[in-house]
Amino acid sequence: MSRVLTALKPTNILHIGNYFGAIEPFLQQQKTGDTNFLFIADYHSITIPQDPDELRKNIFFATAAYLAAGVNPEKTTLFQQSHISEHTELAWILNCVASMGEVERMTQYKDKARNKGESVSVGLFDYPVLMAADILLYDTEIVPVGEDQKQHVELARDLAERFNNRFGQTFVIPKPVIRESGARIMGLDDPEKKMSKSAPTDKNYISLMDDEATVLKKIKSAITDSEGTIVYREHRKGIANMMTIYSLLTGESMIEIEKTFEGKGYGDFKIALAAKVSEFLTPLQEKIQTLLQDENHLHRTLEIGAQKARAIAAKKMIEVRKKIGIA
Ligand code: ADP
Ligand code: TRP
Repeated sequence: MSRVLTALKPTNILHIGNYFGAIEPFLQQQKTGDTNFLFIADYHSITIPQDPDELRKNIFFATAAYLAAGVNPEKTTLFQQSHISEHTELAWILNCVASMGEVERMTQYKDKARNKGESVSVGLFDYPVLMAADILLYDTEIVPVGEDQKQHVELARDLAERFNNRFGQTFVIPKPVIRESGARIMGLDDPEKKMSKSAPTDKNYISLMDDEATVLKKIKSAITDSEGTIVYREHRKGIANMMTIYSLLTGESMIEIEKTFEGKGYGDFKIALAAKVSEFLTPLQEKIQTLLQDENHLHRTLEIGAQKARAIAAKKMIEVRKKIGIA
């Protein structure tokens, strides 16, 4: 039994990397965890410029997608980050505990800020501190995330330990949980980099809403090598990535997949993979569409989640304010 929390940004559409890296591991935890939190990290998504109408739409889409994927509001507190003002309040306090040096070391910030000069927002820099507040407010023990978020969870651990040392036991020390396979799905067009919705072209990712024809087209154009065999070798990044996706969808091991496709080439494998992807996506998309038709229900779900989250966050903040000497 444990306290599990994760979040995804409502930027753009969700892709299968998000699904396998974060949503599915969360669903696994939901089975056993006694207290689960999943929220829509809307404040994190405005660290880069947003279109307000797009953002509003994406928040509802994300809510529908989580419910469709199997997030159960009876077992999981599902809410929207900005509904709980304690997140930003604690982030400010943690800003005063975090050092410039340790936040400057965050590799995601360095990647995202590269070549942008001085125009990047202060929010983008401060992003990991808000994330630490998200985690620490709820006495979170386990944070299921993709590989790229591990460093941020480690920062949350460091800040919790420092705060506890300075002001007395207040925060639980969280632990990132990263699945072994699928923690890093690579881009179809560039298997050297992770699949990402902020990639320059949509050939990079398979969105949860891609139809059959789009899935097939994207997979057909995915980068492979000149070896032509369906054999799993880490250095053969393109085919290894697609075999990983196949394995995640079917539960088959690499050896089983190699056997199935013995003597076959990339063409056959890609068609088979595209069929598996669509088999998985089609029913999910139908559920998402149905849920999206009832906006009131989605609103209510987030409101009920916010009430539950707020009760916990408010209690923690009373303790934090006392500890630091402002109450
Ligand atoms: P993106 O990089 O596409 O904008 P986010 O940063 O919003 O995705 O990530 C949301 C969650 O999905 C995080 O837990 C992250 O680790 C996970 N995730 C994102 N991309 C991938 C990927 N390519 N493979 C596995 N997990 C991923
Ligand atoms: N930064 C995470 C991402 O980009 C999203 C996130 C925000 C998060 N707050 C969190 C993840 C707290 C886990 C826990 O994916």
